[in-house]
Amino acid sequence: MSKENKKTLEVYKEKAHLYLANSVEHDKLDPKRAKQKREKLEKLITSKFSSLSEHAKVFEIGSGDGSNAKFIQSLGFDVTASDTADDFIKATQNQGLKTIKFNALEDSFPEKYSAVFCWRVFVHFTKEDALNIIQKVYDTLNDNGIFIFNAINRDFKNLDNEWVDFEGEYHMGAKRYYDYFSQSDLDNIIQKTKFKIEDFHKDGGNNNNKWLVYVLRK
Ligand SMILES: C[S@@+](CC[C@H](N)C(=O)[O-])C[C@H]1O[C@@H](n2cnc3c(N)ncnc32)[C@H](O)[C@@H]1O
Repeated sequence: MSKENKKTLEVYKEKAHLYLANSVEHDKLDPKRAKQKREKLEKLITSKFSSLSEHAKVFEIGSGDGSNAKFIQSLGFDVTASDTADDFIKATQNQGLKTIKFNALEDSFPEKYSAVFCWRVFVHFTKEDALNIIQKVYDTLNDNGIFIFNAINRDFKNLDNEWVDFEGEYHMGAKRYYDYFSQSDLDNIIQKTKFKIEDFHKDGGNNNNKWLVYVLRK
């Protein structure tokens, strides 16, 4: 586990309640855009998970407020949400979601899964962390299992990494580490594992190039 990720998790541990409150406020600034983003994500999840069997086991890494896990559960899957910050864990448990305290870079997955979902979490991973987690997810997936994740595109930011506390948007009163990945960074990392890239696209931002979205198949 990188020192960057470790320090960032300390920020979430202390201040996840602020993140939860501010993200709600942020969505209120532009409800139409927030709704569009949610609908797009739910469409992706629905279509990519359509190959899973009924009640298949799905694990979410870094669930945050739990809205993604809640949606995955609504599709009939057996979801385990997870995070490291107690306030996030409480937020997901309050929605009736099975939730565990889980550091993706340090802890072992409790069981095997048909799918793993990891949304807006690679932003806090160094390149080494990314290889570590992709390999770990490969090992925990059943044959033919799916891993969906996204990362911020280095070309969108024109920056390798930064410590930042965003103004307004997700303001937390402390800096978190953000790492930005080029498509070739991630392709090279994925190539070191046995995953096949089933689907890749860019999404978000004004030019649909903010996020690199990967669907990997074991
Ligand atoms: C920007 S938030 C995204 C939350 C949620 N996935 C979403 O899309 O709304 C980043 C999340 O990654 C989690 N995270 C970062 N590093 C992690 C690690 N090593 N293990 C587990 N969760 C981690 C944080 O606790 C936080 O919930």
